[in-house]
Amino acid sequence: MTLTQYIGNAHRRPRRLRKTASIRAMINETTLKKEHLIAPIFVSEIESELTPIESLPGVFRVPVTQLAEWVLKIQSAGIKAVMLFPVIFANKKNTEGNEAWNPQGLIQNAINIVKKAAPELVIFADVALDPFTSHGHDGLLNAAGEIENDTTVDALCNMSVTLAQAGVDFVSPSDMMDGRIGAIRQALDEAHFQNVGILAYSAKYASAFYGPFRQAIASGARGLDKKTYQMSTGQSREAAIEAELDVAEGADMLMVKPALCYLDIVAKVRAQCNIPIVAYHVSGEYAMLKAAVQNNWLDEKPAVMETLLSIRRAGADLIVTYYAQWAAENLDI
Ligand code: PBG
Repeated sequence: MTLTQYIGNAHRRPRRLRKTASIRAMINETTLKKEHLIAPIFVSEIESELTPIESLPGVFRVPVTQLAEWVLKIQSAGIKAVMLFPVIFANKKNTEGNEAWNPQGLIQNAINIVKKAAPELVIFADVALDPFTSHGHDGLLNAAGEIENDTTVDALCNMSVTLAQAGVDFVSPSDMMDGRIGAIRQALDEAHFQNVGILAYSAKYASAFYGPFRQAIASGARGLDKKTYQMSTGQSREAAIEAELDVAEGADMLMVKPALCYLDIVAKVRAQCNIPIVAYHVSGEYAMLKAAVQNNWLDEKPAVMETLLSIRRAGADLIVTYYAQWAAENLDI
């Protein structure tokens, strides 16, 4: 049978729609815009100069004294939002993690600085105890060494209120404790912060791809086992339950994390919920790309574009990525 006979009466030749750049642009289904990107920032009180992070080439710990200047650069690249992570002095870390809700703490001050320098920038701040605990876990340990859910949730509520007082737009609980979204919503409302939103890390997996992040904030060993609170890789239905609970408890946006190994989860949660979905292109996912680029094994622009577009195509409205500013400056978006 010849090809013409085989195509037969259907006359379907999909390549007609790929014939020219104009046609391809006109029928393009998935877009990536600067507005879709959230730039994570490691704010440091332990350094006085921009400090490169070895496993995250191109990413720095930013001294709090240089934060205003730093966010203005991000903003002038066209980025609308930042997500703040603290790097604090080791001697402020303890088993209670109580520096997390110090009203004069690093992240609270950082929020203040960003709000003053760039009032239109949307500020997300991570809510979890791992940058503040000596053991590097996101929650509090009991005598048996287990993560205690409810006392941790109380601590996260305290932390969230201090972030709100400092002027945060969205608190972003990344701890995976049960019931924390409802409790944080109530704590914020009681403190009259009805307008502060919650981005819930709903489906956060116990991933090997957080290694460079933990190095960046010096929070525990690379292989720290968080499996009693973060989800196991094989779980898909459980992500639907977590998402359902967080929506019911009052989340304004949901997060899936990491992004690339979990694009099926992004698509699933997108189909299930009507609130915005955020995907976190995490440190290890960034590091993999960078390593290949540095070895000249991949071309950075097309590889980054393809990566970010794939996350959008799966259904993410917004993407947290260490590539945010670079993408805004270097990609045709
Ligand atoms: C912890 C937190 C982590 C990340 C964001 N918030 C690490 C962890 O759970 O161990 C990782 C982000 C990344 O790898 O880029 N609350």
